[in-house]
Amino acid sequence: MSEEKEKIILTGDRPTGRLHVGHYVGSLRRRVQLQDSGEFSKIFIMIADAQALTDNAENPEKVRDNIVEVALDYLSCGIDPSKTNILIQSQIPELFELTCYYMNLVTVSRLQRNPTVKSEIQMRKFENSIPVGFFTYPISQAADITAFKATTVPVGEDQLPMLEQTKEIVHKFNTVYGETLVDPDILLPETKAALRLPGTDGKAKMSKSLGNCIYLSEESDEIQKKVMSMFTDPGHLKVTDPGKLEGNTVFTYLDAFCRDEHFEEFCPDYKNLDEMKEHYKRGGLGDVKVKKLLNNVLQAELEPIRNRRREYEKDIPYIYEVLKKGTEAAEAAAAETLSDVKKAMKIDYFEQF
Ligand code: TRP
Repeated sequence: MSEEKEKIILTGDRPTGRLHVGHYVGSLRRRVQLQDSGEFSKIFIMIADAQALTDNAENPEKVRDNIVEVALDYLSCGIDPSKTNILIQSQIPELFELTCYYMNLVTVSRLQRNPTVKSEIQMRKFENSIPVGFFTYPISQAADITAFKATTVPVGEDQLPMLEQTKEIVHKFNTVYGETLVDPDILLPETKAALRLPGTDGKAKMSKSLGNCIYLSEESDEIQKKVMSMFTDPGHLKVTDPGKLEGNTVFTYLDAFCRDEHFEEFCPDYKNLDEMKEHYKRGGLGDVKVKKLLNNVLQAELEPIRNRRREYEKDIPYIYEVLKKGTEAAEAAAAETLSDVKKAMKIDYFEQF
């Protein structure tokens, strides 16, 4: 009798700052849909503090303070602790044991070829002083994913190399020690715009230091200010000029956020985004009108999230209670996998009699 394989989700974020609209369209919005779909028997969302420490070793307060910020962002977006376990990575020692055993299955040159690690090393200017823990974080991420027997990992495109690395570890482990680990699949965002939302200045990377992110907890007047100063088409000087959509941040954001019903409500001159885009390309449509639409759309989407956050912020002990329960449930699952792994590796000496 063939048993339908149970579907399990594991995903996570590093707690290095509040979450922003890029996280929202890239994965958070989707996680809530997946959670509510009823398709998954278990869902784990990890606050990856140990991973955040791999390049923030001297900044433990930053990581600590952002754990609750990220948890607040999750809950305000609709992550429901009765359906989803929110867990803190560092509190699950099994993950680090798994990491240690997986290290034997990965070569240094393979890690050096990991495109995400490569670009992060450049970005952080580590050059010849790469922390070992940072260098090996893809292996620890493989432990995160396999510990929970995840079948489905909903993440942004930047995490693809991590998933590939994980799959290699799974195959290698299963080949050497026998079928033990579950081979996970990545679940990428559905729309292209959501794959990688640029900063409000049009730069590819959103970052706190560049001041080009819109946070989920952003106040309404700040959202408006950021939208009105967004990067558009620098060649679109007069309203009558034909405008370009490629690299036009306002349209990229509309692609990610806007639905047809928003036009009826906020911009009845057009039926949908395609019509508006056509007009922009022809000329005769000014940036301000497009920005006003985007502002309205973002306000409508973010207001309920911000309001829920204000409610949750009133009871921080409750947030920690949610994290503790989620972490305990997660540890039980990870302990089971670690026991399977040790048995497969024949290092289960005291369980043999
Ligand atoms: N690397 C992810 C990030 O930078 C965070 C993360 C850690 C993660 N462990 C994970 C994501 C496991 C998915 C699965 O945001």
